[in-house]
Amino acid sequence: MRLKSATYYDEIYAANGKDYPAEAEITHKFIKRYKISKGNTLLDVGCGTGVHMNLLKKHYQVEGLDIDPYMLREARKHYPDMNFHQGDMADFDLGKTFDVVISLFSAIGYVRTKARLNKTLKTLARHLNPGGVVLVEPWFAPDQWHPGRVFTTVATKADSKVVRMSYSRQRGKISVLEFQYLIGTSRGVEHETELLELGLFTEQEYLQAFQKAGLTVTHDLKGLDGRGLYIGVKP
Ligand SMILES: C[S@@+](CC[C@H](N)C(=O)[O-])C[C@H]1O[C@@H](n2cnc3c(N)ncnc32)[C@H](O)[C@@H]1O
Repeated sequence: MRLKSATYYDEIYAANGKDYPAEAEITHKFIKRYKISKGNTLLDVGCGTGVHMNLLKKHYQVEGLDIDPYMLREARKHYPDMNFHQGDMADFDLGKTFDVVISLFSAIGYVRTKARLNKTLKTLARHLNPGGVVLVEPWFAPDQWHPGRVFTTVATKADSKVVRMSYSRQRGKISVLEFQYLIGTSRGVEHETELLELGLFTEQEYLQAFQKAGLTVTHDLKGLDGRGLYIGVKP
């Protein structure tokens, strides 16, 4: 993400109807169903602006990790009381373990390659207590991705408006999202472009990544909002 898109992230997904409170409650239910360990520490990997963390902090002692300094800047601005770390989900080391590790809204897709998917699950598993649970919301599988689609979102802040138009492409097993932003303020209208690349992994590839990391894995086809959820438990 870039500075400007991180600044509009919450408004864009609110305009798209993303229901963070409902998702946080469903996340909590999955955790209660699968977690065996007794503690309540939770790490949100690819935490973005920290919205899920803020909703889950009534149940858990939460910390977040993200690679993007601009997303972390927004998160720290909104939630100065919460603990955020900067790192790459494939190879971070916080020097401690958690009862729950979550990675929501398809952040996992940003690892792009199967090798980095496997490395990421090993990294997440290394940060789990025995009996702890990891929840990963996947990105699209290759047969679910449709190149050539256009989506538009209009979002409003107190002092500005943003229009985001996206165009989907595919390069082998990588999905490419091209975002064009028009950002209007009292100073005029600016144009920005952002390219996001996410790996298209099959169900088999997700399941194997969990298993190679020593986790028992369940694939819930519905998950939080219909995009599915992989649930791993550390024996
Ligand atoms: C679609 S956003 C999801 C944010 C948040 N989980 C949510 O539900 O709103 C994906 C997030 O993953 C982060 N991200 C991308 N690659 C990452 C990596 N290699 N390690 C950690 N975070 C990463 C991005 O910066 C972004 O904040």
